[in-house]
Amino acid sequence: MAGDTARLFFAAWPAPEVQQAFGKLAQQLKPGCGGRAIPARNIHLTLVFVGDIAQERRSRLESLAVAVAAPRFELSVDRVQYWRHNRIVWAGVAQCPAAMLALVTQLEAGLSSEGVRFDRRPYVPHITLLRDARRAPAEAVMPAVCWPIARFALVESAPRDGGRAYEVLREWALTL
Ligand code: 2AM
Repeated sequence: MAGDTARLFFAAWPAPEVQQAFGKLAQQLKPGCGGRAIPARNIHLTLVFVGDIAQERRSRLESLAVAVAAPRFELSVDRVQYWRHNRIVWAGVAQCPAAMLALVTQLEAGLSSEGVRFDRRPYVPHITLLRDARRAPAEAVMPAVCWPIARFALVESAPRDGGRAYEVLREWALTL
């Protein structure tokens, strides 16, 4: 990749205790599902994936993030699922909270108005737990992990040691 680009995305970045809870869950699911468990330090929830973008455009992403006005919310993560097409096992919610959709919608609108292209799909909040998994988890319902989300982050994904390393570049509070 050219040195003047970075792979960026907006995400909810969990507190260490929430990361630990999902990291433990990933370890528990691995024997049954196969694949590679995501290390706790990498656990996150993507809001909008921007992708590779020129470094000088990063300030535009920060400006649009400053303009976001959305309420904080709480996620009760109580589902584990398997996507066969990309072989990931992930944790999710029975229903996406309206406040979360509002946040995603505002970020997408901000990106569009800045002329930044991004990966636009119907939003399904998912926390990836296993990659290259071979089977769905035996149980789709899990003991709920409660995750209060009071801020969102701009994160850089960079290749490291055959995997990816994530760096939180900046965070903004949800203040409504
Ligand atoms: P995933 O865990 O399902 O792969 C960083 O790559 C984050 O952005 C991950 O949470 C990843 O989801 C998400 N993402 C969404 N669309 C992506 C894409 N087209 N390429 C890489 N990552 C993507």
